[in-house]
Amino acid sequence: MTAMTDDLQTLETTAISELSACTEEATLIAWKSKFIGEKGHMKAALGKLGTIPKEQRAAFGQDANKVKVALETAYACAVSVAKEAALMASLNAAPLDVTIPGRRPTQGRLHPATQILREIYQIYGELGFQVYRTRDVESDERNFELLNMPPHHPARDMWDTFFADAPAGTVLRTHTSPGQIHVMREMCPNPIRVILPGMCFRNEAISTRSEIQFLQVEGLCIGEGVTMADLKGTITAFARRMFGPERQIRIRSSYFPFTEPSIEVDIDWPQDDPNRDRLTKGTGWLEIMGAGMVHPTVLRNGGYDPDIVTGFAFGMGPQRMLMLKHAIDDIRLFWQNDLRFLAQF
Ligand code: DAH
Repeated sequence: MTAMTDDLQTLETTAISELSACTEEATLIAWKSKFIGEKGHMKAALGKLGTIPKEQRAAFGQDANKVKVALETAYACAVSVAKEAALMASLNAAPLDVTIPGRRPTQGRLHPATQILREIYQIYGELGFQVYRTRDVESDERNFELLNMPPHHPARDMWDTFFADAPAGTVLRTHTSPGQIHVMREMCPNPIRVILPGMCFRNEAISTRSEIQFLQVEGLCIGEGVTMADLKGTITAFARRMFGPERQIRIRSSYFPFTEPSIEVDIDWPQDDPNRDRLTKGTGWLEIMGAGMVHPTVLRNGGYDPDIVTGFAFGMGPQRMLMLKHAIDDIRLFWQNDLRFLAQF
């Protein structure tokens, strides 16, 4: 036993006894740097190794290491005891009541617009129509020209259009009708029976009845001997399934450059709804679609020979239909994502 190993023992005893008084994080940290830190006593003791006579060095080194390990172990132990104590203290301060009922997770659902689209697909599916997807961003050529509206054609005024700068002639489609050109060019010369759902965009004043962004579902049927009677039959069958047998359907003659003849279809607003007059501008009717027999020029632009085939087309507004079905008085509700509205469907 040398004076030096005596020192080591004193160091260990002092350190352990001081550690037992440390119960909090701050005092534990202070203890750590005092005894086993970079500038601590343990480091200092090891630093004296060089001053010890050669023959005692190995023994001293071993002893010093033992003390070091002992102090480190004691420290780790004290830290975990302190942590446990802190946890217990916090649990006791705010006790956990496991009998409180849990929070009910809110259940998601389909947006009413998605619901009605699926209903539309279902009905037209039964009538033999397939769903064909087309693009939201279109060329002026497909949105207007190929639908029989050359540049500066006055009928273009029916659609207030969002134009994009690049590439020149790019528009956000104002209706789903350009999809007719896409599907005709892909399917020609085969017969066609499709619906084309999608978003449309118009640079319009937003009101209870119109939005700058809305859904449309286009329909197109092309083949030999397709007539206006087929169009009226298809629309009536659809409206009966969608609105039930009691609701009235009105078909009026109209004008669209891409159909000849053209019609518009209205459904009567629920009789007992107090908002009926306001929402139908006093008429009692709300338009749900435009339609007609596909114009020979449009058939030709799609690759078909109007001397051989004829076709009918329609474009309808699913959100208008939702309004009619549920007497919803404001089309803007569909984009506001107010859960008080959405949770009703
Ligand atoms: N594209 C027309 C619109 O948005 C609606 C429409 C009318 C579509 C007649 C058609 C149609 O396919 O035949 O106002």
